[in-house]
Amino acid sequence: MPLSEMIDSYCESAGFATRHKLRDFFDFVKSTYPDKGYSKIQREHLSAKNVALLIAAKMASPEHKYLDLPYWVHSKFNIGSALLLEKYAEQDILDLGAGPAHFGLLAKYFRCRYTGLDVRYSPRTPATSRHLYDDLCSFFEVDRVIKMIMPFERLAIPGRFRLVTCLMGNFCSYKPVNGTQRKPWDWPEWAFLLDDLATNQLTPEYDMYFQISRDYLQGNVIANVRKFAKTFDEERSVFTFDQTLDIDAVRRSVPEVR
Ligand SMILES: C[S@@+](CC[C@H](N)C(=O)[O-])C[C@H]1O[C@@H](n2cnc3c(N)ncnc32)[C@H](O)[C@@H]1O
Repeated sequence: MPLSEMIDSYCESAGFATRHKLRDFFDFVKSTYPDKGYSKIQREHLSAKNVALLIAAKMASPEHKYLDLPYWVHSKFNIGSALLLEKYAEQDILDLGAGPAHFGLLAKYFRCRYTGLDVRYSPRTPATSRHLYDDLCSFFEVDRVIKMIMPFERLAIPGRFRLVTCLMGNFCSYKPVNGTQRKPWDWPEWAFLLDDLATNQLTPEYDMYFQISRDYLQGNVIANVRKFAKTFDEERSVFTFDQTLDIDAVRRSVPEVR
């Protein structure tokens, strides 16, 4: 279905024809991004050949659901509204895990200078020339830095940012050498990341917003987030920090390795 029709039918079935802030955003998407370009991505990634190859290889493709743009963008719009994204217009935002470009698209709508961070992906099958995330980020003209966030490694991204975001974040886990279950980061890894962000990547006045998959937050991390975050919605697994974060206290909270 063409992107514009997907949007119209979503608005109609969700029954929020009068919620004009979201409608305005959807109108921006429809008028800025042509159906034709989106259809090309749909045709390639949802082709019978590609789907057959994915099934034959028993390859999960969790990102295909993101082609349902209105549904996913609606949830990002709610987060952007809660964050008052418009107050970051003309300011730099770093988004950890850009994924299918939906939050980047919203940030562009609010005239933020957006940089997404993501890992390098290869095409899933020979029937596609690029990974879906790469195609969506190009189509929506969302800027990214390709880099993997690693425990105890500085991000070293050029520039400083007024806001750091991370939505549906899952970077904070280790892949075990044997076994399939990923192991979540402990507090020292988090303390290193927060220190690096506050010291090297953020402007003197800053905000950070983390929405982290619950599976990737373990007890010791939760206890420290309770202690240091400005806000922590434990039910939704969302926490925020700003420039009042006491980085020295964060450093002291990590036991010294002898
Ligand atoms: C569940 S997706 C969420 C994408 C996007 N934030 C959203 O809400 O639509 C998680 C994203 O984080 C990225 N990611 C996972 N581990 C990462 C790492 N170590 N470094 C950088 N990005 C990572 C994934 O490639 C993916 O784009």
